Amino acid sequence: LDELQVIEKDVIVIGAGIAGLFTAIRASENNSVLMITKKSLLDSNTRYAQGGIAAVISDEDSPAYHRQDTLIAGAGLCSNEAVEILVHEGPKGVRSLVKMGTQFDVENGEYALTKEGAHSQRRILHANGDATGYEIVRALSETAVANPQIEVWDDHFVIDLVTQDGECCGVIVQKPGGQRLFVKGKATILSSGGAGQLYRYTTNPEVATGDGIAMAYRAGAFIQDVEFIQFHPTSLCYPGAPRFLISEAVRGEGAVLRNIKGERFMERYHEQMELAPRDIVARAIVSEMEETKSTFVYIDITHESADMVKHRFPTIYEYCLKYGLDLTSDWIPVAPAMHYMMGGVKTDLNGETNIKRLFACGEVSSTGVHGANRLASNSLSEAIVFGRRIVKRINELPVLTVDPVIHNETERSSTPIQAVVERRLKLQKIMVRYAGLRRDAKGLAKGLEELKRQLTIYQSILTEREEYEFANLLTCAMLTTEAALSREESRGAHYREDFPVRDDLMWRKHTVLHRLYGLT
Ligand code: SIN
Repeated sequence: LDELQVIEKDVIVIGAGIAGLFTAIRASENNSVLMITKKSLLDSNTRYAQGGIAAVISDEDSPAYHRQDTLIAGAGLCSNEAVEILVHEGPKGVRSLVKMGTQFDVENGEYALTKEGAHSQRRILHANGDATGYEIVRALSETAVANPQIEVWDDHFVIDLVTQDGECCGVIVQKPGGQRLFVKGKATILSSGGAGQLYRYTTNPEVATGDGIAMAYRAGAFIQDVEFIQFHPTSLCYPGAPRFLISEAVRGEGAVLRNIKGERFMERYHEQMELAPRDIVARAIVSEMEETKSTFVYIDITHESADMVKHRFPTIYEYCLKYGLDLTSDWIPVAPAMHYMMGGVKTDLNGETNIKRLFACGEVSSTGVHGANRLASNSLSEAIVFGRRIVKRINELPVLTVDPVIHNETERSSTPIQAVVERRLKLQKIMVRYAGLRRDAKGLAKGLEELKRQLTIYQSILTEREEYEFANLLTCAMLTTEAALSREESRGAHYREDFPVRDDLMWRKHTVLHRLYGLT
């Protein structure tokens, strides 16, 4: 077999959302950086973030309030140290984003701050009303592209991490034409996002296929708390329309939820009503849908002034209008959809995994900040806070001494692979049915059994990006289902119908999975 061509860089960044862009820009101050993205710099979950980024900015707010809100939402599973870091270092991170060109909305000379579910204070910065993620990605990608220390490879797919003697020394990359390379680096940062595509209904784009989690697992990283899947309560649910996000900020600005009989129902579920933690709102919506035999409920902001709604939520307003729905005068049909993975590749407080020189940043990681349920708008803050720490740690790393030789393996096996699109759809249906918002042992065991039947994919030598993505999704699906089956309690986003109560005596602990040691 041929040896793969080797390319060398100091730092390899996989993924182009806020975590990848931010760490690449900061790392470039002292290092040569290669950013690898399987689509383009403008394709990531960050791009679709609407609500904003949470940080203590207002004089009425304090790190102690932000900490308390994060811990309550996290339902006893957050790492106190990680949360401390988030709430104290968040404002510094926001200032860095501004330096990199991000323009947040300003009102009367101050940053405009909104509120979302389970926040006790207004602390969410936003941009262009409800297009915060897009503004961040715009500013950061312009900065990255203009930086000669950063090389960007669009449309390149990272197949696997390369490790030797417990250290990560780079990645195997497939170029658009199919040719493969070994990129060697003293540090590799996974910032490849989550696995929204595990579920049929998701607010995430097509690219969210859990590649980073799966490749880290294959390489021997610890994967933590992946049973905690956050379903956003309000995604557009209208015939022919994708599950477009209707931001929690819409409820933060006064929208109410109604069942199909027109009744406002959240008072029956939680004192914080529409601004209760996400898992509670999502399950309440599903209960109402079941009781009224409907596939949706309504979000209603028609009582607010049309000017305010259009000014504050221009993206959502325009999007709904494309489907004949007017946010200022119509109730909008919504239902929960997969939105975010709380767990991921386990890291320490500097974003480093158990594999030396391998870092994880953003949704792909499990820093311990989110616990069992992420507080809205904490994800963008987490990426920049831990991104800064990762770069600091990388700058201290000694030079890489290992020098592996990687061979090409592109021959296709004789086993034909069943149409990947079909298999992906099947996997998504299994996950919705057995590992969704509400779970039980019988369903999870059945789900696991059905997923195992898909494992034949690994008997084939893969060549196409779609095949790899499916294999990665399958790994993530099995990890999530296995972790969900093992956790015999209900906590945050993980709800077991057969164990409906939170059990702090037995379960105030993380679920950790490893390829060789299994569930630890
Ligand atoms: C939203 O705008 O509702 C999403 C914000 C988030 O997921 O943090």
